[in-house]
Amino acid sequence: MMNGSESHLDVRAALKNGIAQLRATNIPSFTLAAELLLLYALGRDRTWIYAHPEEEISAADAQRFFSLIARRAAGEPTQHLTGKQEFWSLEFEVTPDVLIPRPETEHLIEVALDRLALRELRAGRKQTLTGEALQIADIGTGSGCIAIALAKELPGATIHAIDVSPAALAVAKRNAQRHSVSDRIRFLECNLLDGVLHRAAAGTNISDVGAQHAAPLQGTAAPTAVHGLRTTDHASRSFDLIVSNPPYIGRCEAPTLMREVRDHEPEIALYGGEEGYELYADLITQAASHLKPGGLLILELGHDSLPAVQPLLDAPTWTNVGITNDLAGIARVLAAERT
Ligand SMILES: C[S@@+](CC[C@H](N)C(=O)[O-])C[C@H]1O[C@@H](n2cnc3c(N)ncnc32)[C@H](O)[C@@H]1O
Repeated sequence: MMNGSESHLDVRAALKNGIAQLRATNIPSFTLAAELLLLYALGRDRTWIYAHPEEEISAADAQRFFSLIARRAAGEPTQHLTGKQEFWSLEFEVTPDVLIPRPETEHLIEVALDRLALRELRAGRKQTLTGEALQIADIGTGSGCIAIALAKELPGATIHAIDVSPAALAVAKRNAQRHSVSDRIRFLECNLLDGVLHRAAAGTNISDVGAQHAAPLQGTAAPTAVHGLRTTDHASRSFDLIVSNPPYIGRCEAPTLMREVRDHEPEIALYGGEEGYELYADLITQAASHLKPGGLLILELGHDSLPAVQPLLDAPTWTNVGITNDLAGIARVLAAERT
């Protein structure tokens, strides 16, 4: 196996060797991983490497590439090595402080946009969906991938991106800046929606970016307005849409997880409790008291969460409950409307 010290190494030989090393250590998607690491080490795109297979690579680049290959072979996720992952056709910074965005989470965005469009149709508004004046909460924002995808799709909406992890919020803020949506996303360090309106109104833990421009949450009682937010108890039913991809893996499942996940992604982002579905009950109760009448709750589910979670969305509090499967046929998104 090469380690980068060989002379006259061309692009094709480096890639072939990197693939062989990852295959030998049973790395999933070893060809793609080796390609991504080579692109990253060379600072090139895919078109370039396939157009220049015989281009000689420098000793420094080879050294960089084979050291990345060694780290990947030892279990570090490719995204931690390159520092990025695509989601909803946008590139996100990822670090070991956040969950790496998963493709199945894109279904949550699709369901949210479909349900919002349906609401507009039912209200007799047929124009393009811009999310004008919508107040949206993303609970457990992590890298910010859901909040930022929704902010891009709904330029009229204000998003409240919530997480218990300050380190995750720092990554989400950088991603919002990268995608030029900082002025419409408030970042809040909260346990689910605990005291969310107070924190937002008091300016506690709100990001420097975005707080001053976001639209006010609407209350129903005489409010205390700070930064345009209202803080009375009666004012809590303020959100049009609450989305969440909460931690939903059971601690009992930890031994079955891939080492890339178990040893490298943050525990707070993975485990929802011993069984995995424990956080949903509080999340659904809090969502019921924070959604406007007709507001939408859209949740990502773990592979076996549905039987424990669906019964929590019962009448008369919830209506129009729908389930969306992912491409593997697993019930992945649960959506419901607050009565
Ligand atoms: C499964 S990750 C989802 C991250 C991102 N939304 C995504 O879809 O890729 C769950 C996130 O919830 C956060 N989290 C865990 N418990 C929480 C709680 N009680 N309140 C708020 N956020 C929480 C974690 O820090 C983590 O960022």
